[in-house]
Amino acid sequence: MDQNQTIGQNDAASVREMLSGAGYSDEAIEYYIEKRHAGALVDASHISEMTGTCGDTMKIFLKVDQDIITDAKYQVLGCPGAVTAAMAAVELIKGKSLEHARTINDGHIFKMLKEIPAKKHHCIQLAVKILNKALDEYHSGKEVAGNVEGDCTGCAPEDCCKEDLR
Ligand code: FES
Repeated sequence: MDQNQTIGQNDAASVREMLSGAGYSDEAIEYYIEKRHAGALVDASHISEMTGTCGDTMKIFLKVDQDIITDAKYQVLGCPGAVTAAMAAVELIKGKSLEHARTINDGHIFKMLKEIPAKKHHCIQLAVKILNKALDEYHSGKEVAGNVEGDCTGCAPEDCCKEDLR
């Protein structure tokens, strides 16, 4: 499934049921279904990409104006945990200063999501790591980052709930 597409009404009910059964809160499920901050920013000030050891990849686009993150988006090629964490991360940084974005940690995102399966907590770490990478690179003036390995510990493929979405 294209992660950037909005899930159709008919599919949404079954996705909701499946994710709820897997341990995602209603809030996390809405982030996954709506994908409000998924996609690319054509006028991004900075773009960074990171692949976790699980193979999931995130790309973050930051639009910065006078040290304020005026817009942000994530492209996620990965599991529902990664998508929900990325969407929540944008809610926490959009309209905020670069300095504030630097303070965002796993706990802040988990609080937004309320609940996701324990085996998906590392997906939150991936969203935070790529944010910090982007902030580092933005400060150091790099244009576009290469793809580097993060230390997302990853789920065994058979345990990953993206299997359930096929
Ligand atoms: Fe790798 Fe979720 S980010 S399994």
